[in-house]
Amino acid sequence: MKKAIILLVILNIILVGILIYVDNTKENGSSADPVSKEENDFTKYDGYIESKLDRYKDYYKKNSNNDITMEETIKLVNNDVDKLEGLEYKNYLVKLIDSKYYISDNLLRYVDYYDNKSKNIDEVITNVNSNIDYEFYTHTQKADLKKGNLILVNKFYYLDKNYEPEDLVPIDSAYTMGGGYLTEDTWKAFKEMADVAYKEGIDLYSVSPYRSYNTQDGLYERYAARDGYEEADTYSARPGYSEHQTGLAVDINSTDDSFAYTEEAKWLKKNAYKYGFILRYPEGKEYITGYQFEPWHFRYVGKDVAKKIYDEDLTFEEYYAYYVN
Ligand code: DAL
Ligand code: ZN
Repeated sequence: MKKAIILLVILNIILVGILIYVDNTKENGSSADPVSKEENDFTKYDGYIESKLDRYKDYYKKNSNNDITMEETIKLVNNDVDKLEGLEYKNYLVKLIDSKYYISDNLLRYVDYYDNKSKNIDEVITNVNSNIDYEFYTHTQKADLKKGNLILVNKFYYLDKNYEPEDLVPIDSAYTMGGGYLTEDTWKAFKEMADVAYKEGIDLYSVSPYRSYNTQDGLYERYAARDGYEEADTYSARPGYSEHQTGLAVDINSTDDSFAYTEEAKWLKKNAYKYGFILRYPEGKEYITGYQFEPWHFRYVGKDVAKKIYDEDLTFEEYYAYYVN
């Protein structure tokens, strides 16, 4: 009899337990399955894509110790951050991805640069996009000739020794001191600009347009003999790395630093973009372009691109990384 009572009490306890459990399950929908609860939560956030749910759950779980939010998880997985080998979660990843000039292929380099230099997110994006995380003249590659008027030649992109633009035309003698050639588009734009400037009392003429590899070689070696290679590198391109070899660049009026203070230089800075030219080596951007400020060196890129570069205060390196490459 006593045994029967004990058995009854035990059965009772089990029954009550089952009832409480069933009740709870009803209230919480599916508390027996914590994954389903998460599933419901992810759907609430912007950017949720149903087919990525398993990846959200995995990444969220993996980084639960890092205070990651569900919103961040969605953004990072949608940008395939979870698939990048060797990339641990960082609390600034979303900021990087949300930056205007973010390039997904550069993500590992951004993170490396951010972790090792004390730069803010905008600087990290700008510098890595312009290869500043690399030493100049390392990681060099051939310039992409298919880019036409948007060919980038700098301390990372070079032209072959025998490269010569196909459409070089001579500069009319009234627009040059010393003669020379530019590509047809560049010459037409230069003429248009100089003609308008002239009417406004500004006299513009070319002093150094297209330069062959050999001409650049001679110039660079001469400067290096005078000032040493390290100093020469701050103002003269090594042969093959000069934009002058593209026929799209022209030095205007004078290559003396004092040119910056002339009316001509001021006019060019303000107006050249209207004719398709950009001030290629601006003041304050030396660390990106790799060259000292050159108030005389203008590069033809076409009117639309020049306007965008002017309006957004970009270097050609930044523009190229984000809009061309
Ligand atoms: N002075 C420019 C950078 C050149 O040598 O092409
Ligand atoms: Zn120049």
